[in-house]
Amino acid sequence: MSDKKASNAMWGGRFASGPAAIMEAINASIGFDKKLYAQDIRGSIAHSEMLAETGIIEEKDQEKIAHGLNTILKEIESGKFEFSTRLEDIHMNVEARLAELIGPAAGRLHTARSRNDQVAVDFRLWVKDEFHRVAEALKGLIEAFLKRAEEHAATVMPGFTHLQTAQPVTFGHHCMAYVEMFARDLSRVRDAIERMDESPLGAAALAGTGFPIDRFRTAKALGFREPTRNSLDSVSDRDYALEFLAIAAISATHLSRLAEEIVIWSTPQFGFVRLSDSFSTGSSIMPQKKNPDAAELVRAKTGRVNGHLIGLLTVMKGLPLTYSKDMQEDKEAVFDAAETLDLMLAAMTGMVGDMQVNEAAMKKAAGSGYSTATDLADWLVRTLGLPFREAHHVTGRAVALAESKKVGLEKLTLEDLRSIHDGITADIFSVLSVQNSVKSRTSFGGTAPAEVRRQIRYWKKRIAKA
Ligand code: ARG
Repeated sequence: MSDKKASNAMWGGRFASGPAAIMEAINASIGFDKKLYAQDIRGSIAHSEMLAETGIIEEKDQEKIAHGLNTILKEIESGKFEFSTRLEDIHMNVEARLAELIGPAAGRLHTARSRNDQVAVDFRLWVKDEFHRVAEALKGLIEAFLKRAEEHAATVMPGFTHLQTAQPVTFGHHCMAYVEMFARDLSRVRDAIERMDESPLGAAALAGTGFPIDRFRTAKALGFREPTRNSLDSVSDRDYALEFLAIAAISATHLSRLAEEIVIWSTPQFGFVRLSDSFSTGSSIMPQKKNPDAAELVRAKTGRVNGHLIGLLTVMKGLPLTYSKDMQEDKEAVFDAAETLDLMLAAMTGMVGDMQVNEAAMKKAAGSGYSTATDLADWLVRTLGLPFREAHHVTGRAVALAESKKVGLEKLTLEDLRSIHDGITADIFSVLSVQNSVKSRTSFGGTAPAEVRRQIRYWKKRIAKA
């Protein structure tokens, strides 16, 4: 049949060779699932070994199969393998080539197996490896923060609520807040690995198989803790992909918040940090500019990762048990989210490690905005026994007075302060400096440098084992 004849008047323009070509284009996944080649071959070798061991296929056929699959692995890795869209996906591309290489024995590989459990096992193997990569990257970022926190355990900066100066904190303390966030991400990754560490291979199409297979053997050979327990769920479950995307989205959201802080901190108005040249760019027209592009892109790429989570949730939400072709759409979402997250983590780790901290600018800002007002109120409570509410009022009057005199709280005279409350003594000045303010916040998890150092010691030990 000529291409022209087969093409349809309505949609023939783009797909010159007709409905068959459109079907091929919508159906084929080889364009992206070739990424699973190593997992596919690994899964097939484990399956064939089990088939031989249980006497389902002959030893000599298994040897041919394994040899052929290893040859294919080399062909793919050296770029010699020819992927064909006509053969739809990675599974059929590999099997077709195996038949070319070893002949009829290739036909025995698919005994007691279906592409449904095959793709499920391949993808699980891939996602599990990626989880481990993300865990390592998160550890790298946490370590970069621990290092900065150690250097700056006592460097004062303003702490914010509503992005308004609230109370002085230390930069080390601020870094450790991110350690907490990324350590939670890391623990989510570890939990998810634990949950998904089961092999679906042997569920076959959906119902299991009558062949005397040994699923525990293949599970072990592929590094899974055990086989999955329900054949229907095994081929229709994509929770591990959803969990990967959910964890990636939460982590990307953390990275985006950090990115936003770096964007703010690196403005000339804040001037808290200076990014290294490697993580910023100049402007083609404004010579004074140094733009935090890498941070901005981390902030932006979060949209993409979050989008993939919503995308796959939407693909999965209406699917009856068990496998439906819809599930083929799981891979691009996960591959792109993984690649994006890897890049975001690497860029942030670089930025955090490289950025120059401007201690003087942080200290100056820490003292502005009457940031020690709470310390003044606390002093009134502690030393004069005032109820906190009354101390809050007295402090409010002190702030108003300082404002009218256009000075900081610590620059008010003792007479000024005594005009507001006559119980005040010179001792009050010991709490009005930002240094003393942070030093005093020794509650567990507080910003006192000694407390920050304690938390650094704790996380250093924990991360080494995480
Ligand atoms: N390429 C398919 C996927 O990624 C493999 C499984 C196909 N199974 C099937 N019954 N058509 O989901």
